[in-house]
Amino acid sequence: VCTSHDAGPLVAVLASGRGSNFESLARAFDDGEIPGRIVCLVTDRAEAGARLVAERHGIPSYVLPWEGRRAFEAELLALLRRLEVEYVLLAGFMRLLGPTVVDAFEGRILNIHPSLLPAFPGLEPQARALAAGATESGCTVHFVDRGMDTGPIVAQRRVPVLPGDTVETLAARILAEEHRCYPEAVRLVLSGRVRLRGETVWCGPDGFEVRA
Ligand code: GAR
Repeated sequence: VCTSHDAGPLVAVLASGRGSNFESLARAFDDGEIPGRIVCLVTDRAEAGARLVAERHGIPSYVLPWEGRRAFEAELLALLRRLEVEYVLLAGFMRLLGPTVVDAFEGRILNIHPSLLPAFPGLEPQARALAAGATESGCTVHFVDRGMDTGPIVAQRRVPVLPGDTVETLAARILAEEHRCYPEAVRLVLSGRVRLRGETVWCGPDGFEVRA
C-alpha cells in the first residue's frame, strides 16, 4: 500500500476542459520529477477531455456536476477527505471555489492562469492581453485564495506578443510555457522547498521571500 509517508503527498487535480496541463503534471509525477501521487481527477463536466488523460494514466476520475457551489463543495470536500488528499491542483478548472474548500486547503491548493498576474485575471486573458496591446504575456502559478486568480504567486514564465498574433497563436505560445511552469512549481511546493506563510511565498528551509 502506498501512503503519503513513503511516496510523498496525495494529490487531486481539478479540471473542466481538455486537460493538457493535467497531462503535463501526470507525466511529471509518473517520471518521478514530483514527489507524491495523483489519486484522482475531479471534473465538473462529464465530457471534459481531461477524463481521457486520467484514463491513459490510470488515474480514477470523478464527475461532480455543478449544481451550485454549496452542493459541489460539500461533495468535493467529502471526496477529498475520503481519499486523504493533501494537495489540490487546479488545471483549467473554470469555477470559483469558495472558502469552505480554499480555507481547508490553505497553502496546499495551486492554480495556473494564462497571463502574467495580476494582469488579466478571469476569462479570456489572452484576448484581453492582445486587445490591450501588451508586448509580453505568459503564465502564472499561484496559491489559491478566496479571490479570482488573486493568490500569492509561486512562479511565472514570460512570452513575447508577436506582430500578427491571434488569440490562438498567443494562447499556444503561452500554453507551451504552462506545461513547463506548472510541473516545476508543483515540484517546489510538494517537495517543501517553497511554501506559503500567511500571504507570503517563502523559499528554502529558513526562507526568503519569493518575488515573482
Ligand atoms: C489553461 O490555459 C489554463 O491556464 C487556463 O485554462 C486552460 C486549460 O487548458 N486556466 C484558467 O484560465 C484559470 N483561470 P488545459 O485544459 O489544456 O490544461
